[in-house]
Amino acid sequence: MPDHETLARWLLEARSVAVLTGAGVSAESGLATFRDPEEGLWAKYDPMELATIGAFEREPELVTRWYHWRFTRARDVQPNPGHHALAQLESFLTARERGCSIITQNIDGLHQRAGSQRVIEIHGTIHRWRCTKTGREKPLSDLSFDRFPIPSDHGGLMRPCIVWFGEMLPEQALRDTFAALERCDLFLSVGTSATVQPAASFIEIARAAGARTVEINKDATLNTGGVDLALRGPSGVILPRVMEQLDELASAMPSGDT
Ligand SMILES: NC(=O)c1ccc[n+]([C@@H]2O[C@H](COP(=O)([O-])OP(=O)(O)OC[C@H]3O[C@@H](n4cnc5c(N)ncnc54)[C@H](O)[C@@H]3O)[C@@H](O)[C@H]2O)c1
Repeated sequence: MPDHETLARWLLEARSVAVLTGAGVSAESGLATFRDPEEGLWAKYDPMELATIGAFEREPELVTRWYHWRFTRARDVQPNPGHHALAQLESFLTARERGCSIITQNIDGLHQRAGSQRVIEIHGTIHRWRCTKTGREKPLSDLSFDRFPIPSDHGGLMRPCIVWFGEMLPEQALRDTFAALERCDLFLSVGTSATVQPAASFIEIARAAGARTVEINKDATLNTGGVDLALRGPSGVILPRVMEQLDELASAMPSGDT
């Protein structure tokens, strides 16, 4: 049986699905992953070195410009067929009273724009910014990106509401994540190199809870050897194919059986 059909069958059987996504799921929207060479202006910087509170404190202008650039990129691109397929999967499962959570490491907001409702943003979002002094957020519409770094109204600076390396993950997001991992009987890892902790260990938690594990990635990763099923290729191609197969299987079943 082709791999995408196996996955469609597993999705049909699943009571609860947890999907971990990474930068690869947004690559076909035109957003570079961390391991791709970055474009033009930013090609000489290592994103990992800009993504720390230390970098922000040392070079607030550079780091704010970098995140403003990433914000405009995320705002100006569109969700791709991979994001849409995951939103469709959630609707499919919800209609059958089954669970579906997307746990994303992405900060771009593209899952929500594709229509996904239950998205846990473990690394925060580039679409909200807060004051370094008070922690108070300011609506995007009130933020002016015409001078860098961006002063806040309270004597601090505005920074994106994302989790930098070395910072704590948002507590509620972590609680929701662990609940989804404990609950799931099918875990999908999509477009992530699975190198950044704690996301890298989510697959182990799901496996220990008894879930089948699946990886969808353009390339092999550290997880590939250990998963129950690995589908190699772009998520924007594989996920729609799986959803098509799932719809076919579901419509071939007597009503009430799905
Ligand atoms: N769009 C975003 O929000 C964005 C962009 C860059 C980096 N990040 C951050 O990068 C950190 C690094 O972890 P990561 O694992 O998310 O990214 P990563 O760059 O480490 O890995 C990306 C993975 O996606 C795979 N990939 C690339 N194109 C793909 C495609 N079309 N289909 C399927 N797989 C594809 C690659 O083989 C790789 O394994 C995360 O913390 C994340 O917050 C986010």
